[in-house]
Amino acid sequence: MPINIALDGPVGAGKSTIADAVASRLGILHLDTGAMYRAIGLAALRAGISPSDEDTVTALCGRVDVGVAHQPDGQHTLLDGEDVTGLIRTEEVSMAASTVAKFAGVRRAMVAVQQRLAATTDMLVDGRDIGLRVLPDAPVKIFLTASPEERARRRWEQLREKGGSDSYEQVLEDLKRRDYQDTHREVDPLQAVADAVIVDTTGLSFEESVEKILAVVEAKRHG
Ligand code: DC
Repeated sequence: MPINIALDGPVGAGKSTIADAVASRLGILHLDTGAMYRAIGLAALRAGISPSDEDTVTALCGRVDVGVAHQPDGQHTLLDGEDVTGLIRTEEVSMAASTVAKFAGVRRAMVAVQQRLAATTDMLVDGRDIGLRVLPDAPVKIFLTASPEERARRRWEQLREKGGSDSYEQVLEDLKRRDYQDTHREVDPLQAVADAVIVDTTGLSFEESVEKILAVVEAKRHG
């Protein structure tokens, strides 16, 4: 049985970068499931479909193939075989991903792919519903969070490094909208499951956050 670690949390908690570092320290793969919803969001935008049109988006989801490839520089996300890794990080795709992720049919399809991948090898899986739905039996479950202001500041700095021009206020507003949408959807809303360890990274450096999670993993594995 592969060892799986479930990592959930809201946008901007630093999940992806922290998960990368934790997985590499543990010598296991990191599966970023948000990238898969982003690929469906991108597919909808490209096809000229409104991300909120449930029936059409769900039908589209059945026609496209979303996959991942783990390479030395990290996870690459594939849409019908095309590497879309660099195209799925815009604010437009972020919002579309959050919208398409509300739909039961889309979630069912993505969860099935994620469960198949996690069954093959040791993996740290990050997302919103990992402890609840994707890996309910994972021996280690972590809910990673930080205050909305700190999460928005981190996201704003990331976007600025990439040349983005959104103001901090705009990023904070988008983040709160996405938080609301992710925690209030009907199907598997973002939540800390009862057996998750909550790790709050407000005020912690990146390295401190990584160490804190490694300590939780150690304690769970050997405790
Ligand atoms: O982690 P992220 O920001 O890349 O995720 C993009 C969107 O996908 C996010 O708004 C919520 C959704 N998502 C989800 O519903 N379930 C997951 N397991 C991962 C992401």
